[in-house]
Amino acid sequence: MAVVISSNGNSKAFDAKMTVYVFICVIIAAVGGLIFGYDIGISGGVTAMDDFLKEFFPSVYERKKHAHENNYCKYDNQFLQLFTSSLYLAALVASFFASATCSKLGRRPTMQLASIFFLIGVGLAAGAVNIYMLIIGRILLGFGVGFGNQAVPLFLSEIAPARLRGGLNIVFQLMVTIGILIANIVNYFTSSIHPYGWRLALGGAGIPALILLFGSLLICETPTSLIERNKTKEGKETLKKIRGVEDVDEEYESIVHACDFARQVKDPYTKLMKPASRPPFVIGMLLQFFQQFTGINAIMFYAPVLFQTVGFGNDAALLSAVITGTINVLSTFVGIFLVDKTGRRFLLLQSSVHMLVCQLVIGIILAKDLDVTGTLGRPQALVVVIFVCVYVMGFAWSWGPLGWLIPSETFPVETRTEGFALAVSCNMFFTFVIAQAFLSMLCGMKSGIFFFFSGWIVVMGLFALFFVPETKGVAIDDMRDSVWKLHWYWKRFMLEEDEHDVEKRTD
Ligand code: BGC
Repeated sequence: MAVVISSNGNSKAFDAKMTVYVFICVIIAAVGGLIFGYDIGISGGVTAMDDFLKEFFPSVYERKKHAHENNYCKYDNQFLQLFTSSLYLAALVASFFASATCSKLGRRPTMQLASIFFLIGVGLAAGAVNIYMLIIGRILLGFGVGFGNQAVPLFLSEIAPARLRGGLNIVFQLMVTIGILIANIVNYFTSSIHPYGWRLALGGAGIPALILLFGSLLICETPTSLIERNKTKEGKETLKKIRGVEDVDEEYESIVHACDFARQVKDPYTKLMKPASRPPFVIGMLLQFFQQFTGINAIMFYAPVLFQTVGFGNDAALLSAVITGTINVLSTFVGIFLVDKTGRRFLLLQSSVHMLVCQLVIGIILAKDLDVTGTLGRPQALVVVIFVCVYVMGFAWSWGPLGWLIPSETFPVETRTEGFALAVSCNMFFTFVIAQAFLSMLCGMKSGIFFFFSGWIVVMGLFALFFVPETKGVAIDDMRDSVWKLHWYWKRFMLEEDEHDVEKRTD
């Protein structure tokens, strides 16, 4: 499967306008990111609603009523965690199928499939009368996320004019953060609607799913996907339409060339295991692990629970989540603005120090002032809230968007979509691990959980320092010569491949 993406500055600039049609396509497709964000944000609020707990998790509800007994363990229930995390496990599996439908059927039908999964999943979860309907609904939503997260970033990259591709990549993350924020607001208002507020909250995802389903009838297939599937004439016509110019020959030829080259690679997954693929492969996968081990989703999923744990009431907890959600959205704009100016490395390193300080302060306050059954004083609770907000800021302009951007720009064209699919499923796997384990970890480790994440932040900061090279402004197909071959560590894999090539030629 081939994807043609040009990088920010050095690559050839093809003649292209930012057409209204492309704008509409981008907005419709990015709704996929919005649904992902909504699903991330909604579960924390719903699992804090009494009506929901009474219906599906009565024992958790009983424990919650006696919350003063233990500040860290009130919601610890494997089934409750499964409600949140089943979505990510399903998405992990689905992204492999989505990678196949993306290449065989195209990006647009893959998005349509995503919206159908979303709609059925929303119906089952919002209308659930027993725990099984609820979990199956979440699993179908997870299929939607797997299909959507694979197709949407590829679609955005292929449809955008080359000079806007970098920024557009982070638009996906921006939509994710907006989805989380909307979910937080919906949680806030539906929590006071009894007894079915939680149904409205879960059902809310149906609106963007419908927009994606009907919207995707308006958008086109990408030229790369058409040409890759030998629909060359249609591919060229589509290219003219989205670029808003008649002469698209040069760009058309470059796509045909990339697709021809990619077709020669019979098994991209085997190619991904070769030494020459090691740098983008190792960095792409580890970034997903690190992104999740910053602890962001522990805070995002359970922000309301966390705020309650530190002594806020039910409403105040959701309101606080709205505040963190807004900070998340606004800080993502900082990332969009800085990523091509200061570069990727600066953002990763700055935020590692920034997030480390926040986690340590939160951990120390909780360790010192919140015992297992007591409550935290208001001044300390306020400091915790402030540091949670500052922490979210740092994540939003660094490990959040860069976790998606770097794998999308460092794989060579012949393994780009497969590499990206592996990165998506890796992300889902570690999101699942955190979602499934967080409440038990909080219960077992208490405030120590913040020191646990602090430790990982030190490791990822060091990894970024020594192993993540700067890719700002480097042409996307020039990574090998301009980045990997010059890097103190990664260059050995490039040399190995060169020697191997020489040996083959002299045989
Ligand atoms: C991550 C999600 C996270 C979100 C927070 C995304 O980049 O992949 O796991 O919840 O950022 O904004």
